[in-house]
Parts: sequence; C-alpha cells; structure tokens
Amino acid sequence: MVLETKQAGPIGVFDSGFGGLSILREIRKVLPQYDYLFLGDNARAPYGNRSFDLVYEFTLQAVKHLFSKGCHLVILACNTASAKALRSIQQRDLPVIAPTRRVLGVIRPTVEKVGDITHTGHIGIFGTPGTIQSGSYNIEINKLHPNFKVYGQACPMWVPLVENQESDGPGADYFVQKYINALLEQCDDIDSVILGCTHYPLLMGKIRQYMPQHVTVIPQGEIVAESLADYLRRHPEMECRCRRGGTCHYLTTEDAEKFDSLAGIFVNEQVHAEKITL
Ligand code: DGL
Repeated sequence: MVLETKQAGPIGVFDSGFGGLSILREIRKVLPQYDYLFLGDNARAPYGNRSFDLVYEFTLQAVKHLFSKGCHLVILACNTASAKALRSIQQRDLPVIAPTRRVLGVIRPTVEKVGDITHTGHIGIFGTPGTIQSGSYNIEINKLHPNFKVYGQACPMWVPLVENQESDGPGADYFVQKYINALLEQCDDIDSVILGCTHYPLLMGKIRQYMPQHVTVIPQGEIVAESLADYLRRHPEMECRCRRGGTCHYLTTEDAEKFDSLAGIFVNEQVHAEKITL
C-alpha cells in the first residue's frame, strides 16, 4: 500500500522514452504554473512491439515510482501504455495501492475531439503496432460514436526515423508515403486522421505533404493539454494536490547524458535528467 499524503506534489508524466516530451511540452504551454516530473523508460523503449503483460508491468512500475516521488496525478503520455496498461491500472491497481491518486491517458481525450472534426465519420489512426493491435482507439471512438468507422494503420518505422533524427531525410519520405497509402487504401472516405503516437508530430511536415488536402491530421499534444486543464478545473480536490512552481525535472532509466542530448529533438530547452532504476 502506497503511503497516502495530502502534501502537494508534481504532476507526473510518463512515457516509454522521449516521445512523451512532445506531450509534456504542450501541457506546460497550457499549464505552466505547475511542477512536473517526467519519467522516460528509455532503457526498455520502445514499447510499441511489446506484449500486453510487459507494457502493463513496466508502466505500473513507472507509475509507482512517480507516486513514491510525491505525484498525485500521473499522465501516461504514451499511446502504447495508455492502450495496454491504463485500464488495468485504473481499475485493478489504484484502488489497492493509491485510492486517492489518479492516472490518466492520452487516448480518451483525443477521441473526444474527433466528433467535432470529422464529416464522413471515417477516421484513420496511425500508431505503433501495439496501439493498433490493441484496438483501443476503435473501442473508445465507438463508445462515443457507434456509427463511426475506424481504420488503424501501424507505422513501425516512424518512431525509429524520429529517434535517429531522420525526420527530414529521404527515408522519411518513403515511409510516410507508404503508411499514408496503406491507410487510404483501406477506405477513400477517411477525412480525419489521428496521430496516435507521441513521435508522429515530429513528422508532421512530411505527413501534411503527402496526405490529401481534404484530410485533417490531428496531433494530440494540444488536445491532451486542454483536456488536463479541464480535468483540473472539474477536480479541485486534485488540483490543490498539484504543486505550483513552474519547474520540470526529468528521470530516465537509461544514460542521463544520452537523454539530455536527445531530448532536444522534442523540447527547445536544455534538460538535465537523473538516471533511476525501476
Ligand atoms: N511513446 C510510444 C507511443 O506513443 C511510442 C514509442 C514506443 O514504441 O515506445 O506509442
């Protein structure tokens, strides 16, 4: 049982690696007044091809660590973790280990927006193989809009392209076109496509270049940030446990210097991470 405390703490933001920094960046733009603690499980990333059991086990370890550092609220800024671990943690673990703390994901807030955007009701999802295979986006969209049709496309090469700083290279042109074509071959009436992975906003230039003009491409950082702001407005009992100070600290399970140098792809500031073991 995690020790309960009323003392305010930072908002925890978890990702399998670097990608969640793209979500954290947007959250900090909308809610700069809070303290944040980011944890990247870089030593075990990527999660995209891992089994349900492992993603759940790793994510739960990370959440417990963030709780032990004083976080009352943790955002899983990782689609794969949100798809494969969030529900079990919310329903099975939290009531036992920390009944007053909360863990939120990125899929539900993104899905809540899609109804405002689509005209055809045919929605495309780009994600890691794990996110697409989980069917989480389909399930969540169909809960809100049972008549919408959802088409998933796994993009296993996009995360490595971003992490190897090849987002502007010819390999990116090839693989961006490849997965866009594969998605649109499933249905030519798709008018909205969700970027259901933390890394994909970094390929936005190329995705926009090869996506037909009439298709709206939906990155999720801003949506998640607005949704968190709304959550905190509706939950004053949680808001008062989120410490104000405007700081951000970074934890990584891999080498801290490596984290510091690669984090610059995702955030425009110098970061100094601390290495931890989960
Ligand atoms: N953060 C992951 C996601 O959003 C992408 C990287 C990974 O596969 O671990 O799905």
